[in-house]
Amino acid sequence: MNETKKPLVIHTRYELLAELGHRRAGQRTALVMTMGALHEGHLDLVRRAKQLADVVVVSIFVNPLQFAPGEDFAAYPRTLSADVEKLATLGVDLVFAPSPETVFPQGDPQVTLSAGPLGSVYEGATRPTHFAGVLQIVNKVINLVQPDYAIFGQKDAQQLAVIKAMVRDLDMPVEIVSVPVRREADGLAMSSRNQYLSPEERQSALALSQALDQGRAAAAQTGSATKVLEAANAVMDQAQGVKVDYVDLVDPLTFVPVTDGKATTAVLILAAWVGTTRLIDNTLVVLG
Ligand code: PAF
Repeated sequence: MNETKKPLVIHTRYELLAELGHRRAGQRTALVMTMGALHEGHLDLVRRAKQLADVVVVSIFVNPLQFAPGEDFAAYPRTLSADVEKLATLGVDLVFAPSPETVFPQGDPQVTLSAGPLGSVYEGATRPTHFAGVLQIVNKVINLVQPDYAIFGQKDAQQLAVIKAMVRDLDMPVEIVSVPVRREADGLAMSSRNQYLSPEERQSALALSQALDQGRAAAAQTGSATKVLEAANAVMDQAQGVKVDYVDLVDPLTFVPVTDGKATTAVLILAAWVGTTRLIDNTLVVLG
């Protein structure tokens, strides 16, 4: 059943802190951080938050620090009122939609975070400043909201690993909860960037989820890391209109490649350009 309680939309840190100050003792808070352009994948995060907590805060902020020059910061869809409508159907309490000036009143931060070696491979190799920018905003918004839980999608598997590492290494008092990838009926992982795809590109983009399906099937049949990678690469090599960045099988927490001979759960990760749009996807596979 849809609740339709319009969330309170606030734009400044002062309003946020004032509203959060009304939390009653013992009430649990969950934070869902987004950059807006909300789709069902985001709404799954909110549904999980609602299951866990009494107060649900959704942040909507297109974080400039996680985009490199030449990336899609300016083009990134900004759809606040449609996003708020969607959140109203889920009974969200607060939407924190700040401006960059509110988030970074002193301009670019002096004290920054590094995701270390985990943040310099795969997504970090192609987007060297990306994870530092993600950690900066995630750390900041967690500090402002002080939630019991922060919910992130498995879709951004390396982001999830980097955030879990930050919480562990800095002893942040928050539990990171992950939610499975939400897919369209034909398998394409939901992403705000899918709206950049032309109809032809949207068709080509199906190669990503098909490669993951083949990889998962190979894992079920053989348990072999080599076979999983062969199966996924075979699909990506055949794909028309798709330029592969990486396909690999890694440990979900360290992102160190997983090889044959170990019974473990690994994550099959891939990234590719379809036209000018860069897409990522992943699936968990059981090996051994
Ligand atoms: O996953 C995202 O949408 C962003 O990286 C996040 C976590 C909201 C930080 O800006």
